[in-house]
Amino acid sequence: MKHFSHYPLQKHNTFGFSVQCADFYQYEQKEELQQLYQQGVFNGKWLPIGGGSNLLLLNDLDYAVVHSQINFIRSEKETDESVWVRVGSGVIWDDFVQWSVENQLGGIENLSFIPGTVGASPVQNIGAYGVEAKDVIREVEVYDTKDNRFYSMDAASCRFEYRGSIFKELKHLIVVSVVYELATKNYSLKLEYGNVREVVQAKGDESLSTVRNAIIEIRKSKLPLPEEIGSAGSFFKNPVVDAQLFQSIFEKYPSMPYYSLEDGYKIPAAWLISQCGWKGRSIDAAGVYEKQPLILVNRGGATGADILFLMHQIQLSVKDKFNILLSPEVCLVE
Ligand code: EPU
Repeated sequence: MKHFSHYPLQKHNTFGFSVQCADFYQYEQKEELQQLYQQGVFNGKWLPIGGGSNLLLLNDLDYAVVHSQINFIRSEKETDESVWVRVGSGVIWDDFVQWSVENQLGGIENLSFIPGTVGASPVQNIGAYGVEAKDVIREVEVYDTKDNRFYSMDAASCRFEYRGSIFKELKHLIVVSVVYELATKNYSLKLEYGNVREVVQAKGDESLSTVRNAIIEIRKSKLPLPEEIGSAGSFFKNPVVDAQLFQSIFEKYPSMPYYSLEDGYKIPAAWLISQCGWKGRSIDAAGVYEKQPLILVNRGGATGADILFLMHQIQLSVKDKFNILLSPEVCLVE
């Protein structure tokens, strides 16, 4: 285990804010979490950080950050058509996706190039291009910082939902490994979302690696590269509204994009934000990305407070124009 005091978090948050934490603990074995328990680290305030790709750090943290470097990928069991793979929480998510494609295992190729770590994948149920982590997660092994013990949760107990899970509430649990079921044969490629099929077909064949390359190409064309522009991916969730509100907006804006769900209508937040004139705009160094207005960016030297101010201004205009309150997808950390 490594411990650092007054540790800079600039490289541990994809907005690139230069904030620091009082203590930073980096562990490679899950048992080291028990040492932290003995040392009393979990008695006070603490925060787990994976890739820091979904965080808005609002100021310096006068408490401890714990960071997993549990790095392994291990096949646990095979069925006729699939393999169950256990992956350590510190593995970089996209390294795992790449490994799966290289090993001809289907299921997560559409989740290529998402920043962050394996440990975060169940927490916010990462999703893109018609696939969500919950489609393949079978088990999550956690460490309970209250009881100092490890246990496994099946997918049902994780209560997965759109960009969420029970782990967003049960903050005393730390994900130590995740079991995914990946298809060894008869996998069906999911090409229905947006222009995925078109980009895949232009590449000639329909293989896992072609889908991965297509997704990487699409993401690179729309989303800022974390090493070039600081952001946390989509900043807001796409809101779901009831039929009455939907109808009232649709009458005024018949070209509004939407998706019908069982419990209402999902409206792209990117569209709502564009309609309010925010696309490409900035307040000081906090900006709305020109190619995808759902993404707030650090144009250089922004602070968490700058992004928070921009967030509030966007929320106010969308509420004013559409009577919809956008909720952040990113976790606000004080
Ligand atoms: N749109 C606009 N203006 C724009 C861009 C998009 O009006 O400038 C509208 C269009 O109608 C478009 C719709 O927004 O059809 C959806 O856009 P897109 O396909 O880019 O997806 P999204 O809903 O904006 C979600 C996820 C992304 C994920 C993509 C692809 C959320 C909060 N975001 O974005 O996830 O990559 O779908 O599946 O659900 C993330 O969570 O960090 C993330 C990047």
